Amino acid sequence: TAVNTMTMAENSFIKKLKSSGRSLVVFYGSQTGTAEEFAGRLAKEGIRYRMKGMVADPEECDMEELLQLKDIENSLAVFCLATYGEGDPTDNAMEFYEWITSGDVDLTGLNYSVFGLGNKTYEHYNKVAIYVDKRLEELGATRVFEMGLGDDDANIEDDFITWKDRFWPSVCDFFGIESTGEDILMRQYRLVEQLEVVPDRVYTGEVARLHSLENQRPPFDAKNPFLSSIKVNRELHKSGDRSCMHVEFELEGSKLRYEAGDHIAVYPINDSSLVDRLGELCNANLDTVFSLINTDTDSSKKHPFPCPTTYRTALTHYVEITALPRTHIIKELAEYCSDEKDKELLKLMSSTTPEGKAKYQSWVQEACRNIVHILEDIPSCRPPIDHICELLPRLQPRFYSISSSGKLHPTNVHVTAVLVDYKTPTGRNNKGVCTTFLALKKPKADEPLPRAPIFIRKSQFRLPTKPETPIIMIGPGTGLAPFRGFIQERHLTKEENKNVGETILYFGCRKRAEDYIYEEELENYASKGSLNLRIAFSRDQPQKVYVTHLLEQDADLIWNVIGEKKGHLYICGDAKSMATDVRNILLNIIKTKGNMNDSEAQQYIKKMETQKRYSADVWS
Ligand code: FAD
Ligand code: 2AM
Repeated sequence: TAVNTMTMAENSFIKKLKSSGRSLVVFYGSQTGTAEEFAGRLAKEGIRYRMKGMVADPEECDMEELLQLKDIENSLAVFCLATYGEGDPTDNAMEFYEWITSGDVDLTGLNYSVFGLGNKTYEHYNKVAIYVDKRLEELGATRVFEMGLGDDDANIEDDFITWKDRFWPSVCDFFGIESTGEDILMRQYRLVEQLEVVPDRVYTGEVARLHSLENQRPPFDAKNPFLSSIKVNRELHKSGDRSCMHVEFELEGSKLRYEAGDHIAVYPINDSSLVDRLGELCNANLDTVFSLINTDTDSSKKHPFPCPTTYRTALTHYVEITALPRTHIIKELAEYCSDEKDKELLKLMSSTTPEGKAKYQSWVQEACRNIVHILEDIPSCRPPIDHICELLPRLQPRFYSISSSGKLHPTNVHVTAVLVDYKTPTGRNNKGVCTTFLALKKPKADEPLPRAPIFIRKSQFRLPTKPETPIIMIGPGTGLAPFRGFIQERHLTKEENKNVGETILYFGCRKRAEDYIYEEELENYASKGSLNLRIAFSRDQPQKVYVTHLLEQDADLIWNVIGEKKGHLYICGDAKSMATDVRNILLNIIKTKGNMNDSEAQQYIKKMETQKRYSADVWS
């Protein structure tokens, strides 16, 4: 359509590159912002090597233009691509991924390099990046530098800077650029403090349209979240010093629908005392209204977050102030130290020498120092608040597996969330942004209900289409969340006198008297015959008992369900090695009970995956 062609033409990255004398374009496939951040850092660094760069979101580009990139001298396309869930590309890279998968284009002359972001605890480690790197070559493109892979389970920042350190010299070699290597620190945004701006034009925490939280208009999604009321917020743990919350979000009036297995995203805000502390450390008046304006006028991103706004709003709603700052931030902070020793320390930590990396690892990462802690511990470092706002990554919504069934609870969404609250090696108390935010959202009598901006994200995690298909669910801890929805739904179907297959749950927690969440509910479903409940209490006896031990004991039952009755198996949870442990146990069961050799058993699981009979919803 005309409109579409218009926006595409405006978003032509080739045009932008040409009109601004650039030759480097860095595409990102990002879900939580890390790939986008890495892309931004690469694009910005290009200038050091006489390769002016820009960042581009593949979703907003006509990726067929990659065919024309070769017309620009010394041009290079870099892809920073994250892999999510079960080896999937991120939402914004989906179309590009499908295009290069199915397309039969000739990319001869296109120079490229790939950096992948993944997590080794997942089955399909960096699958997307690995595939794109290989596929671009198949299509005739030229790999300028070998792919880099980042592991979010270990130290992805280290992986990235190590790769980047070798990437640039190779790029310079390839294009015959004599590297200036000069370390130019440049602001990406220009500060405008607007003291007389009309209050009505100032953003107060909305993520997209001005006043969108006051004037709520459907459809609601990530860019236009629904301000949902919280009617219920109660503790699920019976004792012990940890906390797990059951929170119910109202959907009434939103037109939002969900199915068991979907995710809800919550936009949290940062702790106000931490915001005040950061303002104090930067000597800032937090009520000043300001805008940050991209110095790159061709960029589609005019501001790092909605502007104009106040520093207080920016630090509260728009940037991550508790995430551990990455090395490029540390490098910028060094410039604001009045004490030479402090400056040297920060410079060391942002360098890629083994000593520098080790120091960063111990002083920032292991000590869990966020920006506030860094400024507290380095008193001579006093950066201006607007630069801090520019440098910190965007505050991300947090996702939760919905723990209710949309059939049983069509107008509210249940969440089961563990409060993040831990002591750091420097004796501080670090708190999770979203779970702390939720913990404070308790309805009180005679007060309006607390509210939070949310949206729903569809998932692939689904009950079998036929209720008579038996299912096995493995979900220790909060991994129980989506299965609570599944169980509710299967029970409802059974009450409708439909034939429902066996519903087996493997749940694990520490102690019966402590963190056996939803105990009464689960026991009730079990007593009514809707649920075969298998529980592992890991700390109620001297030796550990995990869900994995129960699975080993139940080999016959499991083979009966998945091998003979072609049932479905689901895994959910945050337990680090749990998903891999379960897969290995399942492999053994398939081998012994199904009389298969190792590769046949592997094939068997692969087939279960393609048939959606084996799904995992895991996070770490
Ligand atoms: P943040 O401020 O994001 O802090 C968390 C970070 O703090 C961690 O990443 C880690 O770096 C650090 N940290 C935490 N503990 C320690 C420690 N002891 N020592 C050092 N560092 C530490 N969570 C649930 O509770 N229930 C769910 O059903 C659920 N479903 C999810 C579904 C999906 C698809 C995804 C991606 C995640 C899910 N999560 C779930 C996790 C959830 O999204 C949040 O990550 C979690 O609630 C923490 O958010 P937060 O803002 O409170 O913590
Ligand atoms: P633990 O904390 O006593 O080691 C929910 O977190 C439950 O999962 C806890 O009982 C926890 O036991 C257990 N758990 C930890 N690692 C696991 C793994 N690899 N597989 C299965 N369960 C695990």
